[in-house]
Amino acid sequence: MLNFLRKKHPIKLFVCKDEQEIAELSSKVVIDTICKKPLCVLGLATGSSPVPLYKKLIQATKEKKVSFANVQTFNLDEYLDLDKNFLDQSYRAFMDTNLFNHVDIKSDNTHFPFKDNPTLYDKQIKNAGGIDLQVLGLGVNGHIAFNEPGTPLNEKTHIVNITKSTKEANARFFGNDESKVPSRAVTMGINTILKTRKIILIATGKNKAEAISKLFANKYDPQWPCTSLIYHSDVTVYVDYDAASLIDR
Ligand code: GLP
Repeated sequence: MLNFLRKKHPIKLFVCKDEQEIAELSSKVVIDTICKKPLCVLGLATGSSPVPLYKKLIQATKEKKVSFANVQTFNLDEYLDLDKNFLDQSYRAFMDTNLFNHVDIKSDNTHFPFKDNPTLYDKQIKNAGGIDLQVLGLGVNGHIAFNEPGTPLNEKTHIVNITKSTKEANARFFGNDESKVPSRAVTMGINTILKTRKIILIATGKNKAEAISKLFANKYDPQWPCTSLIYHSDVTVYVDYDAASLIDR
């Protein structure tokens, strides 16, 4: 019933020649957001897709074009039950290494979802004023954050079981050993993501092409969680030629 009450919105698309061009364009959006509202709230993603964007943000901070001094961040998700040999694969560690340690952000202003009473994270986001700009990556199976296929639209921050297909995709960070990929994570829900004011989604490579084509088919399909984004009013997608290759034009 909920679906019928929701309004669909067109998604803006930039097909770029490579990840450098994606980083160039998407970093401008982040920098603009911070410059217009220095006390803004950013939603951040892990994975390899946003890394070139984070490099641009580090460069812009060093060149004093932007400052994170008053920015608050809320990350999308975090692994649970990490193997003790792979603690460096926590998303907190990833963000420290790839962004936070190199910009002037205050550690207290960086937030990650937590295991106990996860919906409190939604309240924390609300108390911070809501997320002004959300950076998203995309799973091969169309997941956003760790919202795996079948996740309902109204889900807030919650604990999930990671699917086999996502374990396969993420095994590269765990010595190519799928059994070392955690089985559970805590993630913002689709409802949490749809409440953000603006979204930029980054996807590169042929393995993302099917999920991207589903997103641009403009039809909500719970088996492809990314298609929930058609119900958000301000989404811009940055892809390379490979990720765009199956879009039906
Ligand atoms: C993980 C994260 C997602 C991310 C996805 C894609 O599963 N939970 O938030 O979008 O990986 O990662 P990559 O950009 O490395 O393909």
